[in-house]
Amino acid sequence: MPVITCNEDLRRLAMRRAPRAIFDYADRGSYDESTLRANRADLDALKLRQRVMIDVDTRVLRTRLVGEEAAMPVALGPTGLTGIMHANGEILAARAAQAFGVPFTLSTMSICSIEAVRAAVEKPFWFQLYVMRDRGFAASLIERAKAAQCSALMLTADLQIQGQRHRDIKNGLTVPPRLTLANLLDIATKPAWALRMLASPHKNFGNLAGSVPGGKGLTTLSQWIAGQFDPTLSWKDVAWVRGLWPGKLIVKGILDADDARAAVDSGADAVVVSNHGGRQLDGAPSSISALPDIVDAVGQRTEVLFDSGVRSGQDVLKAMALGARGTFIGKAFLYGLGAMGQAGVHTALELIHKELDVSMALTGTRNVADIDGRVLWKPGVRS
Ligand code: GLV
Repeated sequence: MPVITCNEDLRRLAMRRAPRAIFDYADRGSYDESTLRANRADLDALKLRQRVMIDVDTRVLRTRLVGEEAAMPVALGPTGLTGIMHANGEILAARAAQAFGVPFTLSTMSICSIEAVRAAVEKPFWFQLYVMRDRGFAASLIERAKAAQCSALMLTADLQIQGQRHRDIKNGLTVPPRLTLANLLDIATKPAWALRMLASPHKNFGNLAGSVPGGKGLTTLSQWIAGQFDPTLSWKDVAWVRGLWPGKLIVKGILDADDARAAVDSGADAVVVSNHGGRQLDGAPSSISALPDIVDAVGQRTEVLFDSGVRSGQDVLKAMALGARGTFIGKAFLYGLGAMGQAGVHTALELIHKELDVSMALTGTRNVADIDGRVLWKPGVRS
């Protein structure tokens, strides 16, 4: 068993253990992937300010995210097809999040259904909604989330039309995985993955089966999205969702201050600054470079959360320094899941927790509540 010291170790293991098509789906971005790269490059370019001779013996990472207790300012974001990265993936990730004490968000495009995840955990989780052309179906998903006692609804605003991911087309990504010769040869080298998958009852889009045409059987993901997601979605639909959902409402996929204001005006309790992990508009700015303007625009009125590019505790610290209340991770936990199932998701969370803890100490920060721009090193600026 290799020694795991960082998220990249989990990524490499996941690459070896999960089928290539599903690993690439999680790992890659849209078109030329310039936004995917910018997410990482701009986080890397931010430098932290080392401070010394400050008593940092006691450190507090606990916080509240969207009104809920969290062991650290990190939550698992909604990711599609998680139950193919590893059999029963959403259940395992939700259990890992519950044990660690951070929120878990279930995607509409999950393999394990809302009800299957609900039956597997005690703590309420968050549900992410894609609005379909069939509004009755969207409303029924909201009802199911209510029945499962989901404690927040996250409306994704940036994927009514899917950005093209070249690898998914080249790999023939289908659900269930298409048995092309290349996929068969690849899966033959990953027997443990295949045996677990065969034994699992969860093999297709769990929330959609039987309800939406194309939810059954073999279809490419992008074909399915093009047919089902409603490209007419507008802010008045957010008000419609708001009317159906009495609990906390999070709007995800905000990259612009005007959109952030519109989200808050439409009733959002929180917004997630995100470019969908570099998977949608290629050429958009990195999520971290968009964060400060959005915090300026709505930070006084709403909770601003962040995702896209977070792989480490240092990244969490940087996003919080620029005003985020907390961050989501997608790829970072999927690598853990593909590498080692539930234990791998736990490891991914533990790594981030330790990195954040040590980085707080080395920047002289005792409590996550105190993180602000002072932890960033700004050449030429004195505090
Ligand atoms: C779906 O949310 C995706 O990014 O594929």
